Amino acid sequence: MEYSCKDFKVGKCEGQKVVHGETMPLVLEPPEPNNGDLESLLLALKKNKDWFDDMITKNSAALLRGFNVKNAEDFNEIVETFGWDDIRYVGPAPRTHVHKRIWTANEGPLSEFIYYHHEMVLIKEFPKKVILFCETPPPEGGQTPFVPSFRVTERMLEEFPEAVEEMETKGLKYSFTALSKNDTSSMRGRGWEDAFGTSDRAEAERRAKALGMDMEWLPNGGVKTILGPRCLTKVFDGRKGRRMWFNTLVGMHGKEHSSATMADGTEIPKHVVKRCEEIIEEESIQFNWEKGDVLFLDNYALLHGRRPSLPPRRVLVATCK
Ligand SMILES: [Fe+2]
Repeated sequence: MEYSCKDFKVGKCEGQKVVHGETMPLVLEPPEPNNGDLESLLLALKKNKDWFDDMITKNSAALLRGFNVKNAEDFNEIVETFGWDDIRYVGPAPRTHVHKRIWTANEGPLSEFIYYHHEMVLIKEFPKKVILFCETPPPEGGQTPFVPSFRVTERMLEEFPEAVEEMETKGLKYSFTALSKNDTSSMRGRGWEDAFGTSDRAEAERRAKALGMDMEWLPNGGVKTILGPRCLTKVFDGRKGRRMWFNTLVGMHGKEHSSATMADGTEIPKHVVKRCEEIIEEESIQFNWEKGDVLFLDNYALLHGRRPSLPPRRVLVATCK
């Protein structure tokens, strides 16, 4: 399938990279400057749904730029054009519902870096796509960097073939502690009552089990969640047999509120985790948000994060199956 399609013009953005012949992100603009209205965009998306979906898979990320997308209502219409099912968010980020399928991306402090992750990587059912919309671009920082996941696996295999295969064979085990109530002073401040949609402990345990988690209650009313064994890498259909770095080892290893070990309890060497963190950063791609940008991420193929930012910044999100 061709890159071009007469309803979109392929553009460029700063920070864009070509990885194994794929353009990340593929930038799609109005074919003529005066076709940038929402109506024309919705029509073009409807007409080229399969092509557009293909472009996301092929390039892992596609950025709609130059269209007049103004608010959560407009963004929701774009998301709904495709007919992809919604998937409910489960995870540590405190989020607020905005409109229909649209949520704030993270209510945690803008000054913190949100570490790279595949969305809902530890949950049994995770989204195929993460779609982000920039309503208010930050004056400085606040990019949403992303990383071709297979490159992390490739480079880790080059440097630590044995450790990688050991982690792969044994699997990983994680723990994570959460308070009962939301704490928006932390980007990981989502309380378990909100996360599981109940303040009843037995019910929360049932819901956690269904998501593949075990719970240990803490004296302060919080909970320690244990997950595992979980994979190190994962191969998805239609992604060229690539081994995606589908884990959250760096994000959770040796932290105050979380841990990561091999599933049998074997510690993971610190220098391996540290090197992995460097590799992820080296492979990252980012552009500066512009007002009205809509970014489609293939969550099977990319890790993403958020750089610290000066206020104001408003980026909204929808997650799809
Ligand atoms: Fe995320």
